[in-house]
Amino acid sequence: MTEEFNLKYVEYRESFNAVLDKFCNDISTVPEVLGESMKYSLLLGGKRIRPVLMFAVGEALGVEREKLAPFACALECIHTYSLIHDDLPEMDNDDFRRGKPSNHKVYGAANAVLAGDGLLNTAYSLLFGECFKGSEHISAAKFICDAAGIYGMIAGQSADILHENDSVPNEDALEFIYENKTAKLLIAAVTVPAVLKGGAYYSELKQFGKKLGYLFQLTDDILDASGSFENLGKTTGKDDKEGKLTAVKLYGLDACKLRADIVGDDCHKILDGLQGDVEFLHELVNFVKARVN
Ligand code: IPE
Ligand code: IPE
Ligand code: MG
Ligand code: MG
Ligand code: MG
Repeated sequence: MTEEFNLKYVEYRESFNAVLDKFCNDISTVPEVLGESMKYSLLLGGKRIRPVLMFAVGEALGVEREKLAPFACALECIHTYSLIHDDLPEMDNDDFRRGKPSNHKVYGAANAVLAGDGLLNTAYSLLFGECFKGSEHISAAKFICDAAGIYGMIAGQSADILHENDSVPNEDALEFIYENKTAKLLIAAVTVPAVLKGGAYYSELKQFGKKLGYLFQLTDDILDASGSFENLGKTTGKDDKEGKLTAVKLYGLDACKLRADIVGDDCHKILDGLQGDVEFLHELVNFVKARVN
C-alpha cells in the first residue's frame, strides 16, 4: 500500500468519525444506560471500512460526502449492532471487540441486546429522514434495509449458527453465509453512491461489493485462525472452538490464501471496467487482502 493510500484512508475515516461524533453527541436517552451502551460500541473505533468504501466510491462517481454521510452513519450503526449481537454469549460468545470488553461484558447481556435494538432502530430513523429528499434517496435507504434484513445480513447470521458443527462442511452453505452475513453490507456501501447517482455502474459495483465481501470474510476467517489478539482486538481461534463453518475449515489455510489472491484479482478486473479515478479502490482491495486487523 502506498503512503498516499494510507493518508487517503485516514482522511475518509476521520471525516466519517467527525459525522459519527456529532451523531453520538445528539443521542440522549432515558434511561441513560441505553444511549451510553450504544455509544460505547459505536465509539470503540474499528476500521470504518464500510463508510470509507462509500465515500471512496462516491468520490469516483462524483457524489458529495455530505449527501452520503447519513447513509454511511446508518450503515455503521447497523454494522455495530450486528457486532454487539454477534458477540453475545448465545451467539459467538466473544468477550472482546475492537480491543475492549464486548458490550455485554460491560453492560450485561440484556442491555447489550437493547443497545443493538437501539442502533438498528436509530439507523431506520436516519434512513426514513433521508426519504423526504426524493426517489433516489428512497431507493438507497431501501437498499440498506434489504441488505441488513432477512434476505441479507440476518439470514447470513442465522445460517452461520445453523451450520455450526456440520459433520460435512458444504461449499454452498459457506458461500451463502459469506454473501449474506458479510458481503451484503459491503455491497450496500458501494451501491448506495451508485443509486444516488441515478444507477451509474450499479451492477458492476454490486458485483464488486460481493467479491470484496467474500474476500473480507475470507481474511476474517484466516485471521481468526492465524492472527493475533494484539492486532485484531478480538479473541482468536474462536471459529474452530465453536465449530464454525469457515473457509479455513473447508479448504485449509494455504488454499484460503490462494483463494484470496483469486478473488482479489476478480475485484481488480471489475474495477478495470469502471471509468473515473478508482486507484484508491484498487489499493483498498490489496489492503483487505493483506490486512492484519
Ligand atoms: C467484523 O467486521 C465482522 C465481519 C463482518 C467480518 P469489521 O472487521 O469491519 O469490524 P470493525 O468495524 O473493523 O471492528
Ligand atoms: C460476523 O462474522 C459477521 C457479522 C454480521 C457480525 P464473525 O462472527 O466471523 O465476525 P467476528 O470475527 O466476530 O468479527
Ligand atoms: Mg459470528
Ligand atoms: Mg463473531
Ligand atoms: Mg470472524
